[in-house]
Amino acid sequence: MVNSIKKLKLRNGYEIPCIGFGTYGMKNEEVVVRAIKTAFDMGYRHIDTASAYQNEKSIGRAIAEYNIDREEIFITSKVWASERGYEKTLESFKNSIKNLGLDYIDMYLINWPASYNRFDNWEEINLDTWKALVELYKMGKIKAIGVSNFRQSHLESLMKTEIKPMVNQIEFNLGNKHMKTIDYCKNNDILVEAWSPLGKSRILKNELLLSLAKKYKKSPAQLCLRWCLQNEVIPLPKSVSPSRIKENINIFDFEISKEDMTTINGMPSFGWSGLDPDEVNF
Ligand code: A2P
Repeated sequence: MVNSIKKLKLRNGYEIPCIGFGTYGMKNEEVVVRAIKTAFDMGYRHIDTASAYQNEKSIGRAIAEYNIDREEIFITSKVWASERGYEKTLESFKNSIKNLGLDYIDMYLINWPASYNRFDNWEEINLDTWKALVELYKMGKIKAIGVSNFRQSHLESLMKTEIKPMVNQIEFNLGNKHMKTIDYCKNNDILVEAWSPLGKSRILKNELLLSLAKKYKKSPAQLCLRWCLQNEVIPLPKSVSPSRIKENINIFDFEISKEDMTTINGMPSFGWSGLDPDEVNF
């Protein structure tokens, strides 16, 4: 077990553990409860969910049964695409917080931007959704607010508002880097989180990755996650297997050299999910 996970400071000073536990695709209640409890056992304190994952109730059950101090954990949820807009977002948040059984949520994100390919008034929709997040943030119901899958074009209007996004959670892994988005976020004090940091295990057989894993005596997955950390990106690996849940958090006892970081950062793209925020049909 990892005893205490380093925390990073968000723009507003709120602290976030530098690795989280992803839960996308985990729906079966018993599987979710078991996975979350195992993650707590192994030292994870940061859980990532969304209304669309349909597992908030199960996560709430795991938190309640584990009897862990509320202050010790960091919970993120997200408002889904069909719930965009001011009123619907407030309603969706109400359901999320109720399902999770919490008094407040540490971080709440807009799951996907409304994009210009689908909506003429895409900017207005995003700003409207954001307005609801800001209101909940000011009420203390959410400690930090941000977005997910936003590119610079989607972020720019939100960056002109009174409370700016603190986090952007994007698909990010060694085969799929979106450095333009990363650079924009870094330059604007937006912390980046990585969903699918293992490329749904598609990228784990890459030859360079295998040889580096051998060199550092770590698994390819551990290399991928450590590489995220060293790029100042918070990885959110997901697994339902206790041994892999453990493996994925044991990444604090080694460091990838500067030279190897440069080599990895220069790898051509491979293993992208294909989910382009401007092309998706939701
Ligand atoms: P499993 O739940 O059976 O462990 P990502 O987070 O990039 O979307 O990847 C998640 C997928 O990767 C899941 O299918 C998960 O399967 C698998 N996975 C998680 N951790 C590891 C690991 N350490 N090694 C190999 N595969 C992993």
